[in-house]
Amino acid sequence: MSVYSKLYEGKAKILYATDDPEILLADFKDDATAFNAQKRGSILGKGRINCSISSQLFQQLEASGIKTHYIDSPSPNQMRVKAVKILPLEVVIRNIAAGSLCQQTGIELGTVLKQPLVEFYYKNDQLGDPLLTSDRLLLMELATVEQVNAITHLALQINDFLKVFWQRCGITLVDFKLEFGLDSQQQLLLADEISPDTCRLWNTTETDPNRRVLDKDRFRRDLGNVEDAYQEVLQRVLQAVEIKS
Ligand code: TMP
Ligand code: ASP
Repeated sequence: MSVYSKLYEGKAKILYATDDPEILLADFKDDATAFNAQKRGSILGKGRINCSISSQLFQQLEASGIKTHYIDSPSPNQMRVKAVKILPLEVVIRNIAAGSLCQQTGIELGTVLKQPLVEFYYKNDQLGDPLLTSDRLLLMELATVEQVNAITHLALQINDFLKVFWQRCGITLVDFKLEFGLDSQQQLLLADEISPDTCRLWNTTETDPNRRVLDKDRFRRDLGNVEDAYQEVLQRVLQAVEIKS
């Protein structure tokens, strides 16, 4: 497979065209940003770790019947993916209150939600990825009603699957962000990545509110040992996958 031009460089990944218009190559970077890129840094090995974790999770999800953009991973920090048009939505699923939910509602950190909360944010860095209402989403024609319903259904299905998977890793899935895209047949596919950059993951047996954090909050909140946490998550994922197969 020859790799052609760089199509897009985001904060965590670079997308390249390939000789097949239906296939792109995603290159996962070590660069880390937070708070809409106001905080910048680098997490050594993050590209390789997030690519490996995402590859494993996409394969597990595919096996459970969820359609994703994942094809394969030709090298440790590269993923071949189906070309999709990404919907400009960040879909956040929350099981436990944390982050912006606590900041914006006053709900106490760690409160277990009675049922998962699915939220849509407008993927737009200039506007700071604002939280959308469903009426605003439709007004702005960011997706159709049918797509919103399908995404909500898929997001809850993915949450059910991932909660159990992370449980097997001794990790509690607090919340996470998903992105979806449409392929050339207008089929809805799960896209982007699922990693410690895009999930809040707490070590289940640890009660200390800082020590339990195994995700990008270590970087966002300067908690230290960021690389160790990412590496720990990868080890647990690989172990869980090995035990299963
Ligand atoms: P939040 O509490 O800051 O709204 O984040 C909710 C979840 O979404 C959390 O798991 C981190 C993830 N997330 C991203 O993946 N990208 C982002 O730009 C933001 C703000 C959050
Ligand atoms: N990915 C986002 C950014 O850089 C925010 C975050 O993950 O906290 O700006």
